[in-house]
Amino acid sequence: MPLVIAMDGPSGTGKSSASKGVARALGLRYLDTGAMYRAMTWWMLRNGVPVEDAAAVAARVDDPVIESGTDPVTPTIAVDGEDVSGPIRSREVTNAVSAVSAVPEVRARMVALQREIIGDGGIVAEGRDIGTVVVPDARLKVYLTASEEVRAARRARDLAADPGASVAVVRSEQARRDRLDSTRKASPLTRADDAHEIDSTELTLDEVIEAIVRLAKELQ
Ligand code: C5P
Repeated sequence: MPLVIAMDGPSGTGKSSASKGVARALGLRYLDTGAMYRAMTWWMLRNGVPVEDAAAVAARVDDPVIESGTDPVTPTIAVDGEDVSGPIRSREVTNAVSAVSAVPEVRARMVALQREIIGDGGIVAEGRDIGTVVVPDARLKVYLTASEEVRAARRARDLAADPGASVAVVRSEQARRDRLDSTRKASPLTRADDAHEIDSTELTLDEVIEAIVRLAKELQ
């Protein structure tokens, strides 16, 4: 089977930039599964579904049509034909996504869609449960970490346009999201036993990409 690289880890570790860089370096496709959960969350909020009500979310799970592109240079995400790549990064969506992604019906639908897109492979897929649930037999699994300080600073930079987004606020929101993502019943964030753990705290983005590309080449 063509290569599947499963990239998992908490938020703010540089997972997206590293995943895209690795995909470009190796000529692979790229899938951002977090964007899919965000797209689902954006749709729920827009349609007035109370996101803390798991039954209400589950009842609407099949309604939005979510389409995810796989080009690492210009990743796209659309809901019902509308480009939502900007709106899914809002703090409102960021703070609601853990509740929505904890709903088993949401996960079942997303995982099915993700497996369809991953197909025969040739792809870098990033998320929280790629190596454990979505593609447990992926040839290369990476679990990316970074210190809490570095992660919060990176997230604050991402949200620089938002005046309410101080490092302290982002840090506490991120801690809450990580706690929810790691303690939910349905496929919590956890490192697969056979994943290579890379701590990006002291590494540049290029160094992270190089380390993963090296691991991929060792497999060939
Ligand atoms: O990676 P990103 O920060 O965009 O992910 C947003 C949220 O989507 C995560 O906090 C998590 O709740 C959810 N997620 C997930 N499983 C994945 C990817 C993301 O539950 N595979």
